[in-house]
Amino acid sequence: MRIDILTLFPEMFAGPFSESMLGRAQENGLLSVQIHNIRDWADNKHSKADDYPFGGGAGLVMMAQPIFDAVAALDPDHEARRVLLTPRGKLLTTARARELAQCPRLLLLCGHYEGVDERVMALMDGEVSIGDYILTGGELPAMVLADCVSRFVPGVLGKGESAEEESFSQSLLEYPQYTRPADFRGMGVPEVLLSGHAANIEKWRHEQALLKTRENRPELLGTYGKYYKNKGK
Ligand code: ADE
Repeated sequence: MRIDILTLFPEMFAGPFSESMLGRAQENGLLSVQIHNIRDWADNKHSKADDYPFGGGAGLVMMAQPIFDAVAALDPDHEARRVLLTPRGKLLTTARARELAQCPRLLLLCGHYEGVDERVMALMDGEVSIGDYILTGGELPAMVLADCVSRFVPGVLGKGESAEEESFSQSLLEYPQYTRPADFRGMGVPEVLLSGHAANIEKWRHEQALLKTRENRPELLGTYGKYYKNKGK
């Protein structure tokens, strides 16, 4: 998968895509992430990419011209799924990430300041928000989206790992995990995990996942959850 990211702050992207899983996915040729500075396409003397909003109001609005020219240069045949990161977008969910992972190319536009000139929406295929809170810009959301989507690209996760088997794919939160030593400063590990009894371990993990979900995200449990919640009281 190829991901092009259009931003006013390209320096922000130095770390996340060169480290860990996403770094490895790029080395292995499964993923190519390219960061582009929108100002490089500004056709004015000072490479200005934002201006005052018509109608007044605080803050600056990202100008249409540099974005139109950047998109024309990077995706002339509209092969990419073009997504604006903005708090007014549709919520990023597992389902949306899985669907975006089917696209061979994504073009992510990081919104900033008071917004983006609405005429830019003529170029975009959609708007995505990563949650009901306001960040200083679309850069961190673009990184979150790219990370989340990449996990559904075949081969990006290591052997034996599967994005499909995890929390939110199955609507339950993760069960607790332990690693060596079995006794850490007097704190032990649940006996069942040391028993080697696969069926009991699986049962314990399922119970723990239900408890954790009931505690932190009861709304994920749905109808079954209501039954379980009452039973647990
Ligand atoms: N820009 C600022 N806040 C955002 C959010 N929550 N999601 C996507 N883009 C944003």
